[in-house]
Amino acid sequence: MRTTISKVKDFVGQDVTIGTWLANKRSSGKIAFLQLRDGTGFIQGVVVKDEVSEDVFQKAKALTQETSLWVTGTVREDVRSPFGYELTVKDIEIIHEAINYPITPKEHGVEFLMDHRHLWLRSKRQHAIMKIRDEIIWSTYEFFHNNGFVKVDPPILTGTSAEGGSELFHTKYFDEDAYLSQSGQLYMEAAAMALGKVYSFGPTFRAEKSKTKRHLIEFWMIEPEMAFVEHEESLQIQEQYVSYLVQSVLSRCQLELKSLGRDVSKLENIKPPFPRITYDEAIELLHKKGFNDIEWGEDFGAPHEVAIAEEFDKPVFITHYPAKIKAFYMKPDPNRPEVVLCADLIAPEGYGEIIGGSQRIDDLELLKKRYEEHNLTGGAYEWYLDLRKYGSVPHSGFGLGLERTVAWITGAEHVRETIPFPRLLNRLYP
Ligand code: 4AD
Ligand code: MG
Repeated sequence: MRTTISKVKDFVGQDVTIGTWLANKRSSGKIAFLQLRDGTGFIQGVVVKDEVSEDVFQKAKALTQETSLWVTGTVREDVRSPFGYELTVKDIEIIHEAINYPITPKEHGVEFLMDHRHLWLRSKRQHAIMKIRDEIIWSTYEFFHNNGFVKVDPPILTGTSAEGGSELFHTKYFDEDAYLSQSGQLYMEAAAMALGKVYSFGPTFRAEKSKTKRHLIEFWMIEPEMAFVEHEESLQIQEQYVSYLVQSVLSRCQLELKSLGRDVSKLENIKPPFPRITYDEAIELLHKKGFNDIEWGEDFGAPHEVAIAEEFDKPVFITHYPAKIKAFYMKPDPNRPEVVLCADLIAPEGYGEIIGGSQRIDDLELLKKRYEEHNLTGGAYEWYLDLRKYGSVPHSGFGLGLERTVAWITGAEHVRETIPFPRLLNRLYP
C-alpha cells in the first residue's frame, strides 16, 4: 500500500511503501537505523540483517545522505520515538543516489547554510518552521473568513507610496515610474468601502538598509481593513486574531513545536485581552527602567520595545503615538490631536513589533492638510482622497508581519529562518 509518513498511523501492523529521502543513518554489523523523511514528516526505518535479503541490507548500509528511495516495511507503534511510529524495513529501491550532500549532520555556519537555503529547507528544523508558517497562513484565512471578512488582493506594482517615500523599490512601468508595494493599505481602504470588512495577504517590499534579526527586504503581510470600526474595536479584533493564530498552532503543530524545543507554556496563555499602554506610559516606563536618553516625540527602537515587552507575559499594545512619528493617514485623537489613534502590538520574549495599525483619517480637509505636511501631493493620491468625498465613514485597519509572527511562535532567533527564500540586505541568492 502506497502512503505517506503523515498517514502511517492508519496502517499499524501493515506493510506500506513510502517515497522518501535519507536524512541520516546509523548502522552496525547487524542493524541499520534510517532516518527517513518524505515531506509530510520524519520516521525511523529499522533494517535488521537477519530479516531482509543480503542485498537489501547492503543497500541500506551504503545509503548516502539525501538519496531518494522507495522504502517498503511494516508500520510499528514505538513509544520511544517522538513521532510514535517506526518502520521495520523489508525492501529498498533507490530512486536517485545523492553524492556528497553539502549539509552534513555536523554544525555549519550561518552564511554557508544561507548559501544552501534551497537544501537547508530539507532539515528537520526548517521543515517544522515552514509547517508552522503554513498553519499560521491557514488559520488566518479561517479566522477572517469565519468572521465575515472578504479576501481582496491589492496590486503589487503601484504608482504611489503607502508608508512614505524613502524605502520604495523603483522600477519602470513602460514609460511611467512604478514602485513595488510596501503595503496594500490604501487599496484595502478602497476595498473596505466596497465590501465592508476585507483583508489581504501578500508580499511587500521595503528597501530598508536595516540589517537586524527582524528586517526582511521582502516580507508577507496580512492587512485587514474595516468600515465602521473605530480604534478600540480594531484592537479587540487584533487580540482575537493573534490569539487564534497561537492557539491553532498549539493544537495542530505539537510535533513541530516539540522538535523546535519551543517552550509552549509561554504560548498557552496568549488569549484576549492583551494589555494596553499609551505611548506616554511607555516613555515613563522606559525612564523608570533606565532608558534616560529617550524623550517624548521620539520613536522606539528594538531595545526599547524589548524592555517594554519584558513587563508583560502577553503581547502588549502601545497606543496613541505622537502624530509626527507616524504615517500621514492616522486619525488624530479628538481629545488630544498631537497623538493619533494607533497601536503597535509588541510580541513577548523580545520578538518586537508584529502589528502596526490605526484608525484612518476620514475627513477630506484634514487628509489634504496631512498630504501637504508630508509633501505627498501628486496626482497618484487623487483616488485616495475620493474615498473621503463620497460617503466617508470611520474605519480602521492593521498590518501583521507574517515572518515576525512566525519567529515569535516558533522561537526562531532571526526572521531569515521564517520565510523559504529570505531577501536580506546583502542577499538575493538563492
Ligand atoms: O508598521 P507597518 O509599517 O504598517 C503598515 O505597513 C501599515 N500600512 C499596515 C496597515 O495598517 N495596513 O508594518 C506592519 C508590520 C509590522 O508590524 C511588522 O510586523 C511587519 O509589518 N514589518 C516587517 N517585517 C519584516 N521585515 C520588515 N522590513 C518589516 N517592516 C514591517
Ligand atoms: Mg510599524
